[in-house]
Amino acid sequence: MALFEARHLHKRFGHQVVLQDVSLAFEAGRLSGIMGPNGAGKTTCFNVLTGRFRPDRGSVHFEGADITGASPREIARRGISRSFQIMNLFNDYSALDNVLVALPRVRRQGFNPWRDLRTDSTAQDQAAAVLARVGLAGKEHAIAKGLSYGERRALEIAVALGAEPRLLFLDEPTAGLGAEGTDRLAELIGELKRQLTIVIIEHDMRFLFRLADTVSVIHWGQVIASGTPRELRENPWVQRSNIGALANA
Ligand SMILES: Nc1ncnc2c1ncn2[C@@H]1O[C@H](COP(=O)(O)OP(=O)(O)OP(=O)(O)O)[C@@H](O)[C@H]1O
Ligand SMILES: [Mg+2]
Repeated sequence: MALFEARHLHKRFGHQVVLQDVSLAFEAGRLSGIMGPNGAGKTTCFNVLTGRFRPDRGSVHFEGADITGASPREIARRGISRSFQIMNLFNDYSALDNVLVALPRVRRQGFNPWRDLRTDSTAQDQAAAVLARVGLAGKEHAIAKGLSYGERRALEIAVALGAEPRLLFLDEPTAGLGAEGTDRLAELIGELKRQLTIVIIEHDMRFLFRLADTVSVIHWGQVIASGTPRELRENPWVQRSNIGALANA
């Protein structure tokens, strides 16, 4: 059985059907990709998988447990983290502080004033180790809003990793990155892939096809194709769309 499964998900906003009978399975230790045009329903799918929205129909399963309708907090507690398409950082706080508040050690204690966190040297060391993992060693005390765009995207991933997830969802991690930033991110994700199960929504097909073990294509709220990158390059829909051309570039 897959580590994470979505079965026959349906979701509508008012009269607009955004997900239609979406079934997906993410295997432990694999990197799964999701691609598809703008407005296809990819982020909504993540939102349903990570508890932000309850599906109208269908179910979500993690490690064999039915987590349909569980809150984002409950889902995070089970070991699932996500990053957002639009960055979600505490801009006026340091890189270290951003990661500190995500640590299970800190979350378990509930809300604590920053003052207390700053004297918890174990938590500080853990947060610094996470920053080092994403290439932000030396930036611990830099204020989030003062970091470069690429560093901020790396910090987002650090915040997600701070929660010590077993499953990590990333929504368009390359958005806004140049070629160099994208290469650096590919390296980082290639490294994380050895330790974690990862699901990535991505428009950059070259990036995705280089990293993913399997890819699903969502179009008009439906999964219209899935397979290995090699299989998808052969898929008529992928070939017809400019996605195919990009993937072969
Ligand atoms: N909270 C919401 N309320 C109403 N409509 C929504 C909501 N969230 C998304 N939608 C609509 O659902 C559709 C799918 O949006 P979604 O953000 O899931 O697409 P996407 O595949 O992530 O697109 P992109 O590639 O542009 O990020 C869009 O038409 C969007 O306007
Ligand atoms: Mg989106």
